[in-house]
Amino acid sequence: MNQNIINARVTFRNSPIHILEKFTIRDVESAYPQFKEHSGLDECVIIQTCNRIELFGKTKNYDQQKIKKTWASLAGLDEEIFDENLEIEKNEKAFHHLLKLTSGLDSMVVGEEQILGQIKNSITSARNTKASGQHLNTLFDKAIRIGTRIRNSSGISQGGISVGSMAVKLAEENIDELKFKKILLIGTGEVSTLVAKSLQRRGYDFAVTSRTLERSQAFCETMGGKAVRFEDVLSGFGNYDVLFVATTAPYFLVTFDRITDAVKKRNNGMMILDLSNPRTVDEKVATIGGIKLMNLDQIAEMVEKNMKARLNKVKTVENIINEEVSVLQASMKRLDAEPLVKDVFKNIDSLRQKELKKALSMLDETDEKKIKIIEELTKAVVESIVSTPMNNIRKASEQGKPDLLEIASKLFDYKNEQE
Ligand SMILES: NC(=O)c1ccc[n+]([C@@H]2O[C@H](COP(=O)([O-])OP(=O)(O)OC[C@H]3O[C@@H](n4cnc5c(N)ncnc54)[C@H](OP(=O)(O)O)[C@@H]3O)[C@@H](O)[C@H]2O)c1
Repeated sequence: MNQNIINARVTFRNSPIHILEKFTIRDVESAYPQFKEHSGLDECVIIQTCNRIELFGKTKNYDQQKIKKTWASLAGLDEEIFDENLEIEKNEKAFHHLLKLTSGLDSMVVGEEQILGQIKNSITSARNTKASGQHLNTLFDKAIRIGTRIRNSSGISQGGISVGSMAVKLAEENIDELKFKKILLIGTGEVSTLVAKSLQRRGYDFAVTSRTLERSQAFCETMGGKAVRFEDVLSGFGNYDVLFVATTAPYFLVTFDRITDAVKKRNNGMMILDLSNPRTVDEKVATIGGIKLMNLDQIAEMVEKNMKARLNKVKTVENIINEEVSVLQASMKRLDAEPLVKDVFKNIDSLRQKELKKALSMLDETDEKKIKIIEELTKAVVESIVSTPMNNIRKASEQGKPDLLEIASKLFDYKNEQE
């Protein structure tokens, strides 16, 4: 391949949650121009979820140091911290990883559905801001389609294990008689939906809050639960025995002081499950007597225990991915030939149009029907002469034969402007 596809990532596999969150790129939209200007990547896509911060890029000249440096400056980090946490792969291995992502194989909850939506959102926003181009758009479109097909054919996503259900299970394992406890869910987003579904399925009553009461009410209409005012909750955590916190707030909502106050008003302990990343519960609350705090790291452990059925399918999915990587790779190699093919078609077509115009004026032809027939004839002649060599160039590119591409460039006098 003429171009390199790079994947640089920090994920829950190598880094615990408190380290992972440091790599977060706060403003993705303004990060794109920075990456494009300073990291040597001329296309990029950022994927950020609670379990991973990943960068996919396209470049002819790959420079790992420049990527690290740009990321470090965007996240306000020293470059050294990348040594222990960052994984970088390129081309075939990067394609393989992207297919693991879209098929759900690399997720903490193997086969979970959320990652697919998150990847779709990432490529859409990269496309809208023109951060991605032909290479990454093609790669992501294909990887999303392949991932969806793998999920459907393998059944890896079946069975309803989610971050939400695992969190509820964790609460059940740690609290006696959860049924009689007062449960509060903070947040009305995707994760809260998963928690609410699980609570509902298991027959627990719960309260729900988010910044606006209307939003909580709308959420409760479909997901169950009782909407409560955000302000009342912030000053009254003591009314609840179990808190599930799943928000994208950029600061601690559940603070040390608020929980210290809450505990004073209670006789019993409290369990707090922070499903957010970055965290929205101050870790210091775990030092308060009677408070049990759990976060995504503990959920990861719980997930491992509950994955047996899905894990049996992992081997099948891995085999499909191994086959699909070569398909993806061929499509990407084919792209190397596209600028040349496009250029040849464009030049030949403008020659065709020029000659057609000349011939029509010599004939002094005005009959629209005849003009149409002559025009179609010129198109058909050009198409039948050019399409075979062009398809052969594409095939050669797909099969990794750059020599033919070079010869064809010389024959057609093509110069790649990007190079
Ligand atoms: N999606 C996943 O697969 C997944 C899995 C595990 C963990 N997580 C983590 O879980 C958290 C929530 O993710 P999500 O996918 O549910 O996000 P989401 O769908 O975007 O929902 C975000 C929620 O956060 C609330 N929120 C945002 N800013 C807030 C603030 N300043 N104060 C109070 N509430 C605020 C929003 O409430 P409003 O309605 O008031 O805006 C909304 O309810 C994130 O930290 C994420 O990293 C996500």
